[in-house]
Formats: sequence, C-alpha cells, structure tokens
Amino acid sequence: KEIIDAPILIVGSGYGGAVSALRLCESGKKVVMLEMGLNWQKSGIPFSNMLKPGKSAAWLKKKTIAPFMNIFSLTPFTGTLDRMDFEHINIWVGRGVGGGSLVNGGMAVTPKKSYFKEIFPDLDTEKFYNIYFPLVHKELKVNVIGEQFLKDCPYYKFTRVGEAEAHKAGFKTIRVPNVYDFQYMEKEYRNEVPRSAFNTEVIYGNNHGKNSLDKTYLKKALETGNLEILDLHCVEHIKLNDDKTYTLQVQQTDISGGVVTDKVFNCKKLILAAGTMGTLKLLLHSNVVNNFPIHKQIGKNWGNNGNFMTGRNWVKPLSGGTGAKQSTIPVGGIDNWDDKEHPFFTEIAPLPMGMDVATALYLLINRVDKKGEVSYDRNAKKIILNWDQSNTFKMRENAGYFIKKMNRANGGTRSHFLFNNGFGANVCYHPLGGCVLGKVTDEYGKLKDHENLYVLDGSLIPGTIGVNPFVTITAIAEYCIENLIRQNEFS
Ligand code: FDA
Repeated sequence: KEIIDAPILIVGSGYGGAVSALRLCESGKKVVMLEMGLNWQKSGIPFSNMLKPGKSAAWLKKKTIAPFMNIFSLTPFTGTLDRMDFEHINIWVGRGVGGGSLVNGGMAVTPKKSYFKEIFPDLDTEKFYNIYFPLVHKELKVNVIGEQFLKDCPYYKFTRVGEAEAHKAGFKTIRVPNVYDFQYMEKEYRNEVPRSAFNTEVIYGNNHGKNSLDKTYLKKALETGNLEILDLHCVEHIKLNDDKTYTLQVQQTDISGGVVTDKVFNCKKLILAAGTMGTLKLLLHSNVVNNFPIHKQIGKNWGNNGNFMTGRNWVKPLSGGTGAKQSTIPVGGIDNWDDKEHPFFTEIAPLPMGMDVATALYLLINRVDKKGEVSYDRNAKKIILNWDQSNTFKMRENAGYFIKKMNRANGGTRSHFLFNNGFGANVCYHPLGGCVLGKVTDEYGKLKDHENLYVLDGSLIPGTIGVNPFVTITAIAEYCIENLIRQNEFS
C-alpha cells in the first residue's frame, strides 16, 4: 500500500471543504483534499442535460435517479448525482470536485434573521449579517435576474405563472438570488454563447453559466499553489493514533468505480467536509471498525430542512400552461414563513421536460419540529436513519394547505402525475445536522474528545435553517475557519 503523509487533510470538496481549503491556503498552509467524485473540469468530459442523461447523470447506477421520470438507462459511471436510500426518505447529494455545487439549482438564499437567531442562539447574528453573509455572496458570485428579462423571457413563463397564481391565492412572493450568471443567461437567450440553463442542464451539472465551487472558492485556492486535490479518492475509515494524529484508509477508483489501488494517508490535522451524510457515515463507521472516539450526540439533531416536494397538474392548460421551454434555474419563491399556522417557504421550481405538461412543481421548506437520528447498523454494516411519517406530518399538512389554496384560487389538481398522492415526503435535497455546532463540536467546529479533528459542512446545522442551505453552510464554514486559524490550530 502506498503511504502518504500530509500535514493537513480535507475530506470532501463541497462548500465546507472549499472554504476551509481557500482560507488555509491563503494563510500559507499546504493542504491535500480528498474527493471521491471526479474532477470534471480536468477530465474534459461534458455534463449531460436532463433530456439526454449520459455519463454525468448518476453515481454508478444503471438508471437515472432524478426525483421522477426515470425512464433512461445508463452505463455505470462516476456521475455527479447520487441518491442514498433509507426506509422513509431518499437523500440526493452531489459527487465530484465541487460537491453539491455541481448539481444544485444555485439558489443562494440568506436565512431569515429571526430564524437564524432561533437556530443558532449562541452565534453573533449581527456579525453574520454584516460580515459573513456579504462575504459569501461576493465569493460565490451571487446575483439576481433582471426584472425586465424575467418579464419578457419565454423560458420564465413558469415563474410568471407561478407568481401570478400565488398572488391570486393571497401568498407573498420573493425574488430568489442565484449563483448562475444572469448576464451569461441573457447572452444565451440571444444565442451569443452556448446554452446551459436553457438547455435543460442542472442536476447532472452545468457546462456553462453556473458559478459552481470549482469556478469560485476552489479555483482561488488552487491559484495559491498550496492546494492539491486528489479526485476519485474515497475515504473508507479513519483511525486515531496514540500521538493524536490520524490514519485514513483510502480507495482510489477509476471512472467506472473499479478499485485502482488502496492508499493510506497520515495527517496531523483532519477536516471532515464530506457533507452531512458523508461525514456522519465516516465517523460512525470508523467508530465501529477502529474504536474511533465519537461524542454521544453524533447523529442526533438530524433533519431534512423541512424538504417536501409537491406539485399541481392542469395549471392553466387553456392559456398555455407553464411553458414548453423552461430555464432550469429557479428565481421565484413563495414566502409564507410568518404564517403562524402554516409557516413554509417554497421554491417555484422548473420542470423542463421539453413540452408543456401544464404542471407546477414546488419544493417546500418547512420547520423541523421533530428531529431524526442517524446511527450505524453493525449487522447490515451501513448507516440507518430514524425518520418516518411522524417527522413529516406537519410538512404534509402545510403542503396540503398550500396546494388547496392555490387550486381554489386558480384551478388545477394535486399532481398524481409527479408523486404518489401528489406528495413527495421522501424527497430530500438538504440533509443537515448530526454534528451540531457547539454540541458535538466546540464553538468553531472542532470535534469534542479530539484535538486535531474538525467538522466543517452541513452537519453543523441542527436539521433546519428555513431556506436553501448552501449560503448558510458557507458562512458558518467561513466563521469557523477564520477563528480556527486565528487560534493557531493549524500551525
Ligand atoms: P457537499 O455535499 O456539497 O460536499 C461533500 C463532498 O464530499 C462531495 O463532493 C462528496 O462526494 C464528498 N465525499 C463524501 N464522502 C466522501 C468520502 N468518504 N471520501 C471522499 N469524499 C467524500 N442548496 C441551496 O442552497 N440552493 C439550491 O438551489 C440547492 N439545490 C439543490 C439541488 C439538488 C439536486 C441537491 C442534491 C442539493 C441542492 N442543494 C441546494 C443543497 C446543497 O447542494 C447542499 O446543502 C450542499 O452542497 C452541502 O454542502 P456540504 O459542504 O455540506 O457538502
């Protein structure tokens, strides 16, 4: 086995990993990043779109794994989108250099101040809203669609119809910022540049337009000359050594998932940023196979960020539905958060199917009043999730209330075409929690019971943040790494 020594190792190249890498590299540290997915930029392999799914469509699957309409066969490949299936919930995650930023819709939403305060009572809210959120907006290149373009562009009919219907039903709508470059989008509309958002590209990667992490944080970190990213390197488990360093067992694979070689990495400082599910899996699995010390609260306070998908059929079929041409980038949302009885936020989501299916899709984000728990099943040798209908009961009630109110005002039916009964309670894009900041870690993400191990990803957020989470994950990672560097944790 090849043995590699690296002073600082980061596992995972999503938001938490990318932020940590940039700030450490800027402070002059040499960093090695291990990512199980492919480095798409370096490989030169293009991403596929939703109507013609190809190599990038799924992580080692024989069939596509979108939330619905999976009629396409695939040759197994280390694609960008993966799905982890549990008894009552399926969790989608991104794989590849850039993590979730490769597959996500780019919605860059800052949480409501009051909710942020409720979820993180010990953090300095003003500092986050004055410093970290603005910093993250700048680094992630967050921008907003031009209102005139939105009004005129046929690809945004679904948003215009969605907003008009919401207003008619008495709901308040908001404009949603995004990391997709809207100047680029206007050019793609005029056919001056290759199309991406208007070419059904999103959940299997965007070839253009989207400022994913490989174009922002990771690019800047690589430019320092201090970062080495090893793709197709999957960390299997971790051992704590007597001298408080760590040894990681790593499998290097090829693009079809076959094992190329087993490697061993030794490091003094370890940052886990493998995403909520990836980090929990590593910690819980290492505990079982290596007696790795873990805090008793690891896995607790897990939530789906209130994700609940639903849809409506027969949306204005006579007046032209939601549009045959649809941009993949959402820019509208319905904000019902202040309603005491039915608090929720919902994205007015695109459904770019190449024809007008007169169907509206919504991804609701609710409060998570009853949390779940991730643990390790020693017999089955896998992580399990304690989560069922009781956790999503209130979310379902909110979705029912929303759909009824929309249909009463505008016509339409609950979408049985998209989901069983019209409700996708099992669809989760936003797994959060399990290594909660200040509970399982210290106030800056250092794991309790460890001296050289840090967790910096979505697992720090206790199961809910009320809006799409990557802006918050990035801001918390900025806050933690700034303080960890200031405390000389890495010298
Ligand atoms: P993230 O999941 O980004 O990165 C973890 C990385 O670690 C991955 O690249 C993974 O391959 C790697 N890894 C895991 N285990 C490993 C191991 N053992 N060894 C090596 N590498 C390992 N959010 C939002 O705010 N706006 C939006 O519009 C959307 N839309 C959206 C759509 C879809 C389809 C999905 C699936 C998700 C979203 N999200 C979203 C959610 C958002 O993408 C997500 O919350 C963040 O990517 C999570 O960031 P993290 O840093 O926690 O991990």
